[in-house]
Amino acid sequence: MADKIGLPAPPMPGDSALKPGTFDGQTVFVTGGGTGLGKGIASEFARLGASLVIASRKPDHLDAGREAMEAIGAPVHVVACDIRDPDSIAAAFDEAVATFSLPSVLINNAAANFPVPAEDMSPNAWRTVVDITLNGTFFCAREFARRHLAAGTPGSIINVGASYAWTGGPGFAHSAAAKAGVKNMTETLAVEWGPYGIQVNGLVPGLFPHEDMTADIQGNLKRTNDKDPVQPALRVGQRQELGWAATFLASPYGRFISGHTLTVDGANWQRRHLTNPEVVTVRDQMGMGPFDPDGKR
Ligand code: HXC
Ligand code: NAP
Repeated sequence: MADKIGLPAPPMPGDSALKPGTFDGQTVFVTGGGTGLGKGIASEFARLGASLVIASRKPDHLDAGREAMEAIGAPVHVVACDIRDPDSIAAAFDEAVATFSLPSVLINNAAANFPVPAEDMSPNAWRTVVDITLNGTFFCAREFARRHLAAGTPGSIINVGASYAWTGGPGFAHSAAAKAGVKNMTETLAVEWGPYGIQVNGLVPGLFPHEDMTADIQGNLKRTNDKDPVQPALRVGQRQELGWAATFLASPYGRFISGHTLTVDGANWQRRHLTNPEVVTVRDQMGMGPFDPDGKR
């Protein structure tokens, strides 16, 4: 009889399949690189010799990103930037160029999300998530590409997505729609900018819990069951696993991979049941009362 053993644990953080110095002399620009998965991705580039530029809104997040890169010994510059604002992005790229060099890698990691039943979602809540997650990702990609087209230099863009881009995401209608846009945009941009030497890929994390997750998302996760046993891998992701995938895609060994979205989730998004489990509404999953038609519009 086969015991359930799940997928093996990965090597420890600090290990790498790529050669030391793979990104020596290169600048890597990571949006939202001061928290969670963005910080994890930035750390793997830092270990491989890159200089890091971390861009996001909040000073405490930027400080955390700077400290993490300095602990690894990588050159780092942090810059306040709201990716909804193209001028703010252009200014952040100017700082990157002035401090290090034109970034050769852009990690479009920043995103916005909170769980809310669709019928309760205000127009501004929808707009805010789509503006950060989809519009912001495009604005950063456009800034990066325009500078490389002008300079005649190659580059690599990685757009961090989510698997509900394919399936829909009950409780996350705004984010799921925005991430579907990100996946589709990745495919378009890879074709448009391939002739100019710019590789564009998507990278989809499965469930990677971490201490920086917003209170809304942590609360939603905690309300339900243990996370490991409900994954086909019998475990959640460890941050370095996403960072390794990102560094591979942007490395010389991933150069012919473009327009692809790589999922790192232990097959969780393909999960189906032999027999259907009972349907539970998003309101019930979130522990909410019945819909109030006089509530927020
Ligand atoms: C309903 C909400 C809400 C909530 C905010 N809003 N939180 N509506 N439920 N929990 C509404 C507000 O009421 C407002 O609408 C609108 O959204 C904008 O809110 P602001 O606070 O003014 O926006 P802003 O200051 O720009 O902040 C953006 C944010 C915030 C998205 C609301 O959470 C944020 O900064 N998030 C960044 C980090 C993040 O989201 N990380 C998650 C990535 S994880 P009204 O109508 O009142 O004006 C991920 C995948 C995780 O994507 C998957 C896990 C399973
Ligand atoms: P997180 O810690 O909340 O990170 C989000 C980052 O985005 C923060 O650093 C935030 O920094 C930045 N950000 C948000 N709005 C911004 C804006 N307007 N301008 C600039 N930066 C902004 O979340 P995470 O879990 O690491 O998620 C990282 C990526 O992975 C996201 O794309 C997310 O959708 C994806 N993802 C995560 C999981 C998971 O299990 N964790 C699963 C699927 C997909 P500031 O607040 O300082 O601006």
